[in-house]
Amino acid sequence: MEVSENFLQTAIDGIRAYINIVDKDYRIIFVNDAITKKLQKPRQSIVGKKCHEQLWKKDGPCENCVTPKVFETGQPQQILSWDTNVDGEKRCIEHFVFPIPNKQGHVEYAVEIFMDVTEKKLMEKEREEQRLELGKRIRELRHAYEELKSLQNQLLQAEKMASIGLLASSLAHELDTPLATISGYCELLMEDVHDEKALGKIKTISDQIAKCQNTVRNLLVFSRKSDSEKKEYNINTLITTILALVEHRLKINKINIHRTFDNQLPPLFIEGNQIQQVILNLVNNSVDALPNGGDLFIKTRKNIEEKSVEIVFEDTGTGIPEEYHSRIFEPFFTTKEQGKGTGLGLSICKDIISAHNGSIRLDRNSDKGARFIISLPCK
Ligand SMILES: Nc1ncnc2c1ncn2[C@@H]1O[C@H](COP(=O)(O)OP(=O)(O)OP(=O)(O)O)[C@@H](O)[C@H]1O
Ligand SMILES: [Mg+2]
Repeated sequence: MEVSENFLQTAIDGIRAYINIVDKDYRIIFVNDAITKKLQKPRQSIVGKKCHEQLWKKDGPCENCVTPKVFETGQPQQILSWDTNVDGEKRCIEHFVFPIPNKQGHVEYAVEIFMDVTEKKLMEKEREEQRLELGKRIRELRHAYEELKSLQNQLLQAEKMASIGLLASSLAHELDTPLATISGYCELLMEDVHDEKALGKIKTISDQIAKCQNTVRNLLVFSRKSDSEKKEYNINTLITTILALVEHRLKINKINIHRTFDNQLPPLFIEGNQIQQVILNLVNNSVDALPNGGDLFIKTRKNIEEKSVEIVFEDTGTGIPEEYHSRIFEPFFTTKEQGKGTGLGLSICKDIISAHNGSIRLDRNSDKGARFIISLPCK
């Protein structure tokens, strides 16, 4: 079939992409309808002019133009670029260029096809952004899931700890009475036995029982299983009662107690058992700090300015090295060898005294001993 120029022109005009044919000097020798419509110019006024001037409103060839390469290599070329069109809009253009060789095989003309793929590219970009956003959301969800899992584990651990605490406190309750009985019998035995060797052994038993009793009581306070309630107490009487329990042990450890009590003290509204536990913990610490015996001074006094009653504990023991000062009230901080101290004593004292709106502090410390002052509010 014979194909006329008119026939080809009609076929190419039907294509929506912009098609033109240029020579080596970018001179347009053919344009399709899509270009004439876009430029709103008749075909005759475009043909014969430079491609960059007509299509891109530029004085010289476009920077990214691949047409010269087609003339150079004889190979088709393709490029995708964002360009500003005649309307001043930024568009994404796919640029295909094919060579048209003459009979000798030299490229005389090149067919340029421009396809505006802006919408497609924008959609791709949007899809890419959505994909990234989705990835981010999935990562966030995964992170939240991990966090939830770890929280669940912590909760499980906390539940376990709570039931262990419950077990420990009920065990401590069970042990309290038999320990008190053993301790009482030890004291009775000491009165009956006069043999020094046997007395030494009973003393060891008595010391160890006292330690067990203290640990058991600390555990009870720590797990808040104490049933005491606040009442009015004379602090001097409270101290005397608790000292009577340990007097014997202090004596065999060669520790002398010196009491200086203010007899004019107002009554304190306190939980008796708990304050006794504080006193016991402080006395025990002094006993541990006095392995070769020594003195323990306990003083009570009123601080009129601060409307408080102060209890001063002072011993002539080892004292506390400066580097430990900030840590002695921390739970489980101990310098004693394993099995000798839980490190709960002072932290419990602080808890109890704070619950009474009072304060406890290390007042003086030297290598000649330690002095703690407790302050409790009074009317
Ligand atoms: N009077 C004191 N003299 C010297 N050091 C003391 C004195 N009181 C406390 N400490 C130091 O403070 C640390 C913490 O005391 P805390 O009573 O809290 O625990 P602990 O006595 O070691 O153990 P626990 O009281 O449970 O038997 C002790 O290990 C000790 O080093
Ligand atoms: Mg202690």
